[in-house]
Amino acid sequence: MPESPIGIFDSGVGGLTVLKALRELLPGENLIYFGDTARVPYGTKSHKTIIKYSIQNTKLLERFRVKMVVVACNTSSAHALDILKEEFPFPIVGVVEPGAKEAVKNSKSGRIGVIGTEATVKSEAYRKAIVSLDPFCQVYQKACPLFVPLIEEGWLDDEITEMVAKRYLGELLSKEIDTLVLGCTHYPLIKKVLSRVCGGVKLVDSAEAVAREVEKLLPSKNRGNRGTVRILVSDKTERFERIARMIMGEEVEIEEVEIDKE
Ligand code: DGL
Repeated sequence: MPESPIGIFDSGVGGLTVLKALRELLPGENLIYFGDTARVPYGTKSHKTIIKYSIQNTKLLERFRVKMVVVACNTSSAHALDILKEEFPFPIVGVVEPGAKEAVKNSKSGRIGVIGTEATVKSEAYRKAIVSLDPFCQVYQKACPLFVPLIEEGWLDDEITEMVAKRYLGELLSKEIDTLVLGCTHYPLIKKVLSRVCGGVKLVDSAEAVAREVEKLLPSKNRGNRGTVRILVSDKTERFERIARMIMGEEVEIEEVEIDKE
């Protein structure tokens, strides 16, 4: 049904950058977001646990009769996307493939940097996706585990965040990359700091890339005026509300739901 919602999930708040990009590109669509705030972070968890959580989150969204699910978490996309595509009858879009495509399209030298959580980097998902699009690309990766807590603290344009970024990115920049994939849905929030640290390197924001991919793959478009947005979490806290307001730039109502753990 065209009016069925698009489901989006992430381990917590980061995926709201994707929700926002979807809201801007597809304002007529009804959107339902689930942030697994009770179990965040995923970036430090094992392959097996990330798969288990990703299946449970998709089942939760299925209860709302979604027409499509967007895995707005790089860690889940890197570890669980193929399994989700096999298990569920509706289209499932991850963030890795659109980010990789955008990077290959943008890079002139073929020297591409990727930053993400430890689990995303360890999965090699970006390297595989980039090299399968262009085998001549050189991919340099770096896990940046301190970025997520700094962002959740609200230190988006802060000298401490900049110092941490310089420390993490020094090695990648010394490889003369011309493109850097922000391989974690939290990272677009510190784009200003990253641009300063990276100079002329092109930053690839997977939130925008994924919104364009969703537009292409949508089984049916809702032609209504302004779609609705529902935000669900597994643990409702003031912290989530504060960050959600900051990301969405509007008042948002947040509902707590029980994850079906069977
Ligand atoms: N949103 C997650 C991602 O894109 C990062 C946060 C986490 O570790 O759960 O990988």
